[in-house]
Amino acid sequence: MAATGLGEKIAQKIIMAARSALDLGFKTADLIYEQRLKVNRISTGSKNLDRLLGGGVETQSITEVFGEFGSGKTQLAHQLSVNVQLPPEAGGLGGRALYIDCEGTFRPERIVSMAMAKGLDPKEALKNIIFARAYNSDHQMLLVEQAKDIIEENNIKLIVVDSVTGHFRAEYLGRESLADRQQKLNRHLHALARLSDIFNLAVFVTNQVMARPDAFFGDPTRAVGGHVLFHVPGARIYLRKSSENKRIARLVDSPYLPEAEAVFQITEEGITDPRE
Ligand code: GTP
Ligand code: MG
Repeated sequence: MAATGLGEKIAQKIIMAARSALDLGFKTADLIYEQRLKVNRISTGSKNLDRLLGGGVETQSITEVFGEFGSGKTQLAHQLSVNVQLPPEAGGLGGRALYIDCEGTFRPERIVSMAMAKGLDPKEALKNIIFARAYNSDHQMLLVEQAKDIIEENNIKLIVVDSVTGHFRAEYLGRESLADRQQKLNRHLHALARLSDIFNLAVFVTNQVMARPDAFFGDPTRAVGGHVLFHVPGARIYLRKSSENKRIARLVDSPYLPEAEAVFQITEEGITDPRE
């Protein structure tokens, strides 16, 4: 009312009309089932990792990958941005990626080598990645809140946020700001989850956590900082380094897949299965 100068009755009518257009409330389970049937998957480049995820990174959901520095989170983000462009029979969705880089670690030359390894024209592959650098947490949230039109116009099938937690950690220090930080982060994740539902796209977020010094005995997946997606459904993958370029992925807290592990490797061509 304050913004438009409309009277209370009219404002209320508009709100009611908007609500009924949104179709809030109950529906029958067959509709949920139909929606689930539309879930697609993007291959990670590693069959082992795809199998762990039930076929790849899912649309209509958020996939969180967490692990310490150098565990391969950013490499996976690059690989998925390339693979989403492949045709379905090659593990992609024939779509484009929206890449939100919060750390300044996006490397177009890495996209070029990954694209060439997949037989894609590297120039086209770069054009199919819509990129934005987020300079602080508000900027990061704003980019997502304004992404709707870009998604629609560009056939976006993957949104990457690397890292989803970095700015929040740096800006909200100390115990007293923890609740604020989590609340904002939850809002951000819910905005991402909504986009994944509405546009049937995959959301892939990374989260750096430190390996726990006492993890030798405890569960290392309960790492310092923990993972952030407790309140949003989706797959969580814990990455740890193994020998040389090998990495071990562990699926944790999946609502319907068994907790298991898979080994993949990072090579010049990108993410692959270990050659043995
Ligand atoms: P943080 O962002 O620091 O938390 O780490 P991260 O989990 O994002 O690690 P990232 O994905 O950047 O992985 C880095 C590792 O990937 C390096 O240690 C290398 O082993 C490997 N890597 C990165 N770029 C290349 C490349 O061009 N060729 C090859 N063969 N390996 C690479
Ligand atoms: Mg990284």
